[in-house]
Amino acid sequence: MPQVIGKDPGQLRAMASALRAIGYTEMDLNCGCPWKFVAKKGRGSGLPENEDAFRAMLEAGCEAMPDGFSIKIRLGMKTPDTLAKRAELINQFPLREITIHPRTGIQMYDGKADVEAFAAVLPLFKVPVVYNGDIKTVSDYARIVERFPSIAGVMIGRGLVQDSFLAHDIRAWEEGGRGTVESPPHDGARADEVLAFADELYRRYRETLCGPSPVLGRMKELWGYLYRYFENGETVLRAVQRSASLADYDRAVATVSKNVQPTLPNS
Ligand SMILES: Cc1cc2nc3c(=O)[nH]c(=O)nc-3n(C[C@H](O)[C@H](O)[C@H](O)COP(=O)(O)O)c2cc1C
Repeated sequence: MPQVIGKDPGQLRAMASALRAIGYTEMDLNCGCPWKFVAKKGRGSGLPENEDAFRAMLEAGCEAMPDGFSIKIRLGMKTPDTLAKRAELINQFPLREITIHPRTGIQMYDGKADVEAFAAVLPLFKVPVVYNGDIKTVSDYARIVERFPSIAGVMIGRGLVQDSFLAHDIRAWEEGGRGTVESPPHDGARADEVLAFADELYRRYRETLCGPSPVLGRMKELWGYLYRYFENGETVLRAVQRSASLADYDRAVATVSKNVQPTLPNS
């Protein structure tokens, strides 16, 4: 789903009609971006701080993308009380959903997502609410969906990058009737899949990106998450991070040992 960020309702309408012209029926407005250069200018997590500007954007979005407009929002920019103050305003609009990340903007990604603050604001909303923040394991997911049965869903960010199997394991837990959460297997089979995934992504990056630098930059970041699946992962990671060329990278990854998973992301 396309997501946009801004504070100009005219631009939002123009973007919505451009998206509709190429077939999209949904659009999300980012009202949570914490970066100073965005928030200070009244965009991202800065937008809900200005009630009139926020209202104008909600109006424009709901009119220009009927039934398909949603927002992503934090508790507030500097203080955690803005969202509760805006609930009545938000409820006036036929939003498809609202995704709540219970941190403040200035908190960035530090500390923990404030689940108690989420519990306090959830009953204020008539629109469907999605929970977002710090779901890194099946147990984290289970805690949220069991405590908040009325939510429309969860959004997972970093947890999926860190553990490529998280969505798979969550689905298995759901399809298994939400029983006891089991630890992921320790047999190395997942290491094979992770390596195949990294190989395919590497191949596609080489086909679509311009030159080795953007490919290496992305693969280095990815290995910062994937190395834990491999017995000698830390050594491979160091070699990957030192790679100055694609040939260096190929040599580094060729040394991977898949015998056992030493430290699983979920453990
Ligand atoms: C590097 C990075 C980029 C992000 N970019 C966006 C973005 O473009 N739009 C958005 O709504 N959230 C963005 N987020 C926030 C995530 O969607 C999410 O709210 C946040 O990471 C907390 O969820 P998590 O704990 O599951 O990762 C970004 C987060 C990170 C770490």
